[in-house]
Amino acid sequence: MRDATIAQAVKILQAGGLVAFPTETVYGLGADARHEDAVSKIFTVKERPHDHPLIVHIATIDELTEWAQDISADALLLAQAYWPGPLTIILKKQPHVLASVTAGQDTIGLRIPNHPVALRLLRAYGSGIAAPSANKFTHLSPTTAAAVYAELGNQVDLILDGGPCTVGLESTIIDMSGSQPVILRPGMISAESITKVLKTNITLQRQDNPVSAKKIRTAGMHHLHYAPLTKTALIHSAHLAEFLKTLTPNDLPIALLTHSQYFLPKIKNVDRINMSADPIIYAHDLYHTLRLLDERHYRQIIIEAVPKDTSWEAIHDRLIKATGMKL
Ligand code: TXA
Ligand code: MG
Repeated sequence: MRDATIAQAVKILQAGGLVAFPTETVYGLGADARHEDAVSKIFTVKERPHDHPLIVHIATIDELTEWAQDISADALLLAQAYWPGPLTIILKKQPHVLASVTAGQDTIGLRIPNHPVALRLLRAYGSGIAAPSANKFTHLSPTTAAAVYAELGNQVDLILDGGPCTVGLESTIIDMSGSQPVILRPGMISAESITKVLKTNITLQRQDNPVSAKKIRTAGMHHLHYAPLTKTALIHSAHLAEFLKTLTPNDLPIALLTHSQYFLPKIKNVDRINMSADPIIYAHDLYHTLRLLDERHYRQIIIEAVPKDTSWEAIHDRLIKATGMKL
């Protein structure tokens, strides 16, 4: 990407405009985190309720203290271990941080993304960029510049094209503002990996877990989140064959997203899409594939449920949120 393009993006941000930019996870819809009107535009363009706080992206660990206070040794350890990378750390905010960024809470989410274009933009800007995923509220996060354009069109002043995102799923969010670490949103950095760094057990927030059912507004608290427009359902591998037998012409055509080699009879108007059995590749391809399928106007998208082990945890979480189902 040309220096002039980065300079143009900086000018737009300074003037209170919106710049969509690539990160390794998904594309972000960026605004100057200190600019009230610019932050407000993010909510308007995304049609997002104001009680969902934004992540502030920074370029270096040194900038942490500009935004957060009471940063524990463990929080710093995580920042050093994973940044730049797909981890968002929730910390106690500095008093100046806009209430619109934090949804009125006394905490702030911070992250250094690992993408050359994002890092160039953040360094050139020299201050925090608030950025949610660059999609309309509840829609799938975009993993290409074309997907950002399809979501937001000309409502964004500039879209920086940094190619397809390498990770493809949103960052892991860990709350380090309390007495013990809590994962609020699983991501490709697993609880297992974080446990090794911190040498302490961490809690995974479950919506049905009364211990952590604090009023934290975090990803996917809304019924349908990360969702395609087409009706989408999750089905266990063992029930797929049986399910296919129950289909009537009115149910067709359907797209069937599988990842196992499970044998299934070929049926007319049931298009099987074989995803990778490797969770890292599956995560990379998931949103992009769902977007393509959405454009083809199937009656339904059926997704084979993924394994329950930790390497699939973030994917399982997003599939549950995309389908509104519990498995
Ligand atoms: O990978 C990502 O995290 C991407 C890229 C662009 O960095 N961003 C992203 O942002 O997914 P967004 O806004 O779509 O999701 C961030 C989630 C929101 O659901 C929000 O509720 C939660 O982070 N969040 C932000 N600040 C928080 C805070 N102070 N406390 C609790 N949750 C917070
Ligand atoms: Mg989002």
